[in-house]
Amino acid sequence: MLQLRSYALGLLASLSTLTQVNAQCANNVAVYNPNARTLSANNTWFVVPVPKAAALTAVQEAYPLLNVSLLDVPADTTLFPNGFPAGQQPAIVNIGLSSDIRMSALQIDGGLRTGQVYITYVSLNGSPSPLAAQASGYIAGENGPLPQGLVPTVATSLLFGGNPARLGEFSPEGPPYQSEGNGILSSQAKWALLPNPISGPGVYPEAFDFEFTHIPASSSRYTAKGFKYLINLPQLLPTAQCQRSAYYFTNATANPVFSNGNVTFGPGADGSSATTSALMAASADGSGIYADVDGFGGCAQSVGNNIQDCDEASAQTDPNTLN
Ligand SMILES: *[C@@H]1O[C@H](CO)[C@@H](O)[C@H](O)[C@H]1NC(C)=O
Ligand SMILES: *[C@@H]1O[C@H](CO)[C@@H](O)[C@H](O)[C@H]1NC(C)=O
Ligand SMILES: *[C@@H]1O[C@H](CO)[C@@H](O)[C@H](O)[C@H]1NC(C)=O
Ligand SMILES: *[C@@H]1O[C@H](CO)[C@@H](O)[C@H](O)[C@H]1NC(C)=O
Repeated sequence: MLQLRSYALGLLASLSTLTQVNAQCANNVAVYNPNARTLSANNTWFVVPVPKAAALTAVQEAYPLLNVSLLDVPADTTLFPNGFPAGQQPAIVNIGLSSDIRMSALQIDGGLRTGQVYITYVSLNGSPSPLAAQASGYIAGENGPLPQGLVPTVATSLLFGGNPARLGEFSPEGPPYQSEGNGILSSQAKWALLPNPISGPGVYPEAFDFEFTHIPASSSRYTAKGFKYLINLPQLLPTAQCQRSAYYFTNATANPVFSNGNVTFGPGADGSSATTSALMAASADGSGIYADVDGFGGCAQSVGNNIQDCDEASAQTDPNTLN
């Protein structure tokens, strides 16, 4: 097993050297965490209010064996100055580029494009500890989907503590997002169901995409602390344990920025259908578009902590992640 893992990582490293490398902030936390997975993540996260019934369906589809339910969003003005819309659950969806990925002595050259949808304020077995439950997760190399199976298998344990990752196709392929002109930025994650770069197009159902602009902090519905709180909730794993995947924005290289725009959830946002999803169907017109939602991004320093009991993970969240 260990041998297989080193082999796979070696292969991944040699593949990545062939790909372009997008410059972004360096990993400043590896030195303090030699035994943990660390990386720098230039991500954009959007908070999307979704109807509670769809949020619960998305979680139950992803964790069919676990006893999960939804907690109400607390009235905490330090996170949500105007409260949170009644009947809605915050989904947090991110697209970004993870770079300078290190695990012990191993360093992966080049970056990985990643995107996830989490439903937040999820309870396990009726516990009051708020968790983030992954509805879907996607990964790709900087030049498109990597060989089927290789990266997802390695990545699910190394990067995501055991949460599943599907092969993705991102646009743009390398950088975290791209300019569409007139200050409009975009990023897309598709589900590379049957990628076929050689003999013709594969099947790529849409997972989620962002069309947005950067906005001043004062225009955002949520505070920076609110975003950081949601981003740093312990992540529920299929084993009923949790991982604290900490994201720090304290380094001078983080350059945090607020955003506003439209998030579209496609068939790949949750569930396993290639034609529709609960989050897509629950949008106002059923098309998957959630307009006028707020986001936050920057180049965060991330540390993947050991897997632990979920209540323990919730109690041990590093307060420094909120700074
Ligand atoms: C994050 O990515 C964007 C889009 O490529 C880039 O403009 C920005 O400089 C990057 N930020 C950091 C801090 O590396
Ligand atoms: C399942 O969760 C509910 C709360 O949603 C709780 O009341 C119940 O005790 C839990 N069942 C088990 C077997 O843990
Ligand atoms: C979001 O969609 C609305 C239409 O619902 C459109 O007017 C607006 O320009 C879009 N915003 C962005 C950033 O694309
Ligand atoms: C970067 O952030 C980490 C985590 O907060 C901290 O330990 C480290 O000292 C910071 N490094 C720099 C150069 O600011």
